[in-house]
Amino acid sequence: MDEFEKDLIKGLSKKNKVIPSKYHYDYQGSKYFEKITRQKEYYPTRKEKEILKKIKNKIPKMFKGNLAFCEIGSGAEDKIKILINENVKLYFPIDISKKFIINASKKLKKIHPRLIIKPIIADYNKPFSLKKFNNNFTKIFFFLGSSIGNFHPNDDVKFLKNLSKCMDKKSYLFVGVDLIKKQSIINKAYNDKAGYTAKFSLNLINIINKKFKCGLDINNFFYKGVYNKRKKSLQGFLISKVKQSFKIGSKKITLKKNEKTQVEVSNKFTPKSFISLVNRGNFKFISYWTDKQGYFGLFLLKK
Ligand SMILES: C[S@@+](CC[C@H](N)C(=O)[O-])C[C@H]1O[C@@H](n2cnc3c(N)ncnc32)[C@H](O)[C@@H]1O
Repeated sequence: MDEFEKDLIKGLSKKNKVIPSKYHYDYQGSKYFEKITRQKEYYPTRKEKEILKKIKNKIPKMFKGNLAFCEIGSGAEDKIKILINENVKLYFPIDISKKFIINASKKLKKIHPRLIIKPIIADYNKPFSLKKFNNNFTKIFFFLGSSIGNFHPNDDVKFLKNLSKCMDKKSYLFVGVDLIKKQSIINKAYNDKAGYTAKFSLNLINIINKKFKCGLDINNFFYKGVYNKRKKSLQGFLISKVKQSFKIGSKKITLKKNEKTQVEVSNKFTPKSFISLVNRGNFKFISYWTDKQGYFGLFLLKK
């Protein structure tokens, strides 16, 4: 039984069914995510880019000498390319979506032909090796796109602790964080009018069908994103329109009519709650920047 099968059986056997969000990202899933980031309602990408453009000129002053950038859950090249300057000699994008990051790396190489790019296909929840890093370079890690919000309780602390083990005392980490704001703005962002968030989530059904030959009909599901104010978290659900059963390996799964499966978690933070999280994850807070409206934060951390 592989990890996907184990995770599906575990998550779909729970009272409140859940599927880990990392399984969204086959090539099609990554393409849908890219579409989401271009929707008017989806403020996180726009706001984070605004901050990156604001700090762009500070990077050469803050970090001198040769630099190696390592971007975790990198996806598209459009954010990191804002920050790359001539001191950046090496770039390691780490992502599970193989074809997508290979393509993104090729696009970046065209813009920066002298930059050495080494894509690493890996699950960032597992310890990954960065042996290829040159020790004389200052290493700057990036975890953008509010991916730090995509963990279920305590998994974020575990992730940060693992990451800190891969970093030395001279390394830095930038994290993009979605800040708490008016509920209606968050709900709109995760229920875009054009329906790309829905397509992105429903694509999971295609991925499951392809792997487990379940024959599930995508039309028997719909997507809804709901902000839970108490948990300070956007929860994305696939809701079954009918009672239906299918098999994951030898395990029979039944979904009741209107039963929800959580397929997305996107936790929101205040600067204070985020700093408290990173301290638990063995990081020290150095500084942070926000966009004009204070929707999004970019935090600089050190081990
Ligand atoms: C929310 S998107 C963010 C993409 C990009 N960093 C941005 O800021 O727009 C999450 C990215 O992380 C990748 N990803 C998700 N879970 C992962 C995991 N467990 N290990 C490695 N990559 C993962 C996805 O393929 C996707 O590219």
